[in-house]
Amino acid sequence: MTFENLLEEYKVLINNDLKVSYLNGPTSLVETFDYVINSNGKRIRPLLLLLTSKIFNSDIKKALPAAISLELLHNFTLVHDDVMDNDKIRRGLATVHQKWDLGTAILSGDMILSVSLNNLIKNYPKHHHIINIFTNGLLKVCEGQALDKEFESKDSITIEDYLNMIDFKTGCLLGMCTEIGAIIANVDNSISNRLREYGILLGRAFQIQDDYLEIFSNSNDMGKSLKSDILLNKKTFLIILARQTVPDKIDKAILLSQDDFDLGIRMIREIIEEYGIKEYAKQKISNIFIQANFLLDDIDYDTSEIKLFSEYLSNRKR
Ligand code: IPE
Ligand code: IPE
Ligand code: MG
Ligand code: MG
Repeated sequence: MTFENLLEEYKVLINNDLKVSYLNGPTSLVETFDYVINSNGKRIRPLLLLLTSKIFNSDIKKALPAAISLELLHNFTLVHDDVMDNDKIRRGLATVHQKWDLGTAILSGDMILSVSLNNLIKNYPKHHHIINIFTNGLLKVCEGQALDKEFESKDSITIEDYLNMIDFKTGCLLGMCTEIGAIIANVDNSISNRLREYGILLGRAFQIQDDYLEIFSNSNDMGKSLKSDILLNKKTFLIILARQTVPDKIDKAILLSQDDFDLGIRMIREIIEEYGIKEYAKQKISNIFIQANFLLDDIDYDTSEIKLFSEYLSNRKR
């Protein structure tokens, strides 16, 4: 079977189980749950968890419920993130707060998280360790999101501050997927810890790539609104570097984008290209993927499929 077919097969399993993870409840909750869960997510986190478990030839049935909980957790963060970032489109559809209202987005996010936790506890009643990793990771994502918001009104954010923030908001979740995938396969702590570090690095590369695409891609291809990073003065990888290089120019372009977004983003793109920041960011993303792969080299199992997955991530267009 080709790797692409394997991913498709896993996606079908993931989507089938996600669909039936909340069936009975108030109509308004079932409706928003279905809306979010059936939308076109890439399912990167559950795929990563299943592929990690597969390294150790563990039965996929053992890992699937955890994969479902991790995707649900991710979907909860997205619903609330879109409120926090005031974004209007996600996965090619109106965001929950845009289609319904703020209260619906808060409540449906909360309930998706509850379904995620219930599913985890139900399927791994004796694995307190997994539940612990999960709830700790959840707190870290919230902390990362808090830093992301705090940074909006600070101009002194360094690349180091930024990397710390994205390791929390994005890296931790991917790190949970690889760590939990390994724990379910009953491996030694040294291996599950290494895989957690690997997942965090993948998340780091993934988020810098997301920052890059938010500037250089377009809303249609990405399936989400791409204005909030600039409009909210987010401290993204490329903007921090631009500020360190040509602060006056980039501030002027960001200010301009508040009135005329298309013109502002054109100027931002030009500055980022002219001063070599675009190339630098691409190189940085690629280096982190390579650094992540190095971590796998010490593991005495066949990690070729997970490496193919990271290659697949590194080539993503959305
Ligand atoms: C979006 O994640 C949030 C980030 C961490 C950048 P994805 O790009 O994995 O979103 P979906 O699940 O495919 O919509
Ligand atoms: C990514 O947030 C992290 C979480 C959602 C927790 P972003 O705000 O950077 O991602 P997008 O661009 O909305 O997907
Ligand atoms: Mg966002
Ligand atoms: Mg955000």
